[in-house]
Amino acid sequence: MFRLYNGVEIPEIGFGTWQIKAGEEAYNSTLTALKAGYRHIDTAYAYENEESVGKAIKDFGIKREEVFITTKLPSHIKNYKEAKEYFQRSLDNLSSEYIDLYLIHAPWPWSNIGQDCTQGNIEVWKAFIDIYNEKRVRSIGVSNFQREDIEAIVKATGVKPMVNQIRYFIGNTQPAVTGYCKQNGILVEAYSPLATGELIGNKTLEKIAEKYNRSVAQLCLKYCLQQGVLPLPKSTNEGRIKANLELDFTISPEDMAALNDLSGIGSKKKLRS
Ligand code: A2P
Repeated sequence: MFRLYNGVEIPEIGFGTWQIKAGEEAYNSTLTALKAGYRHIDTAYAYENEESVGKAIKDFGIKREEVFITTKLPSHIKNYKEAKEYFQRSLDNLSSEYIDLYLIHAPWPWSNIGQDCTQGNIEVWKAFIDIYNEKRVRSIGVSNFQREDIEAIVKATGVKPMVNQIRYFIGNTQPAVTGYCKQNGILVEAYSPLATGELIGNKTLEKIAEKYNRSVAQLCLKYCLQQGVLPLPKSTNEGRIKANLELDFTISPEDMAALNDLSGIGSKKKLRS
């Protein structure tokens, strides 16, 4: 478990569902993940698979409080009223009375990356704070935010996000925002911890993983954990879903240093979670 600054505990590996198709694929993968032992599922309104994820959780038959669910407000929603409306839509999709972690999906709409939405983000953050105070969500945070984006909402409201979920993997660790979050007690979560699969065949990583008798994927995920970052691996394959939880080994300080020195690997794909 990681512990957020408000005391909420969050299972240290989450099952990522970005790019898992709604319907059978999302339902089956989520059910497989729950059977394998995941107790933390990460979805988003924009993934269009909240309903399938919610149904899998329900059918698995676990008590609601035993699974940690994260979802996200669509990136183009930048006003108070719609933020609250979309929150309710996510609750309905997931058939749940509350969400464990609710994130602003991005500081700008995906259709206009880089647009200045400071005012909109502040409005939305106020809606998040109200939802939090109403106890309909156990923790609130952001995704794809840079330091300045976080500082703007904190300055306006006095409330720090508990989490910042960013694109993070070996060779792409975004040190400026990661360092800022760590200093401020904001948990960093890694989406695409395998660089959406691009790191898998990397020869340097294969050599290091072999030393531990582990796969490159396991090395990548353990690397996140040893950096204090919560990984959200995605898979639709039962064997890989299971393997991504088997991380009972320790990467040596020397190998961590070598991994820290790698940059620019597996970073060809677009930014998006
Ligand atoms: P698949 O769904 O067929 O398992 P990321 O988590 O960085 O988004 O990466 C997801 C990609 O990595 C998917 O293409 C997924 O494919 C693949 N993947 C996930 N886990 C593993 C693993 N343990 N070994 C190899 N590939 C993996």
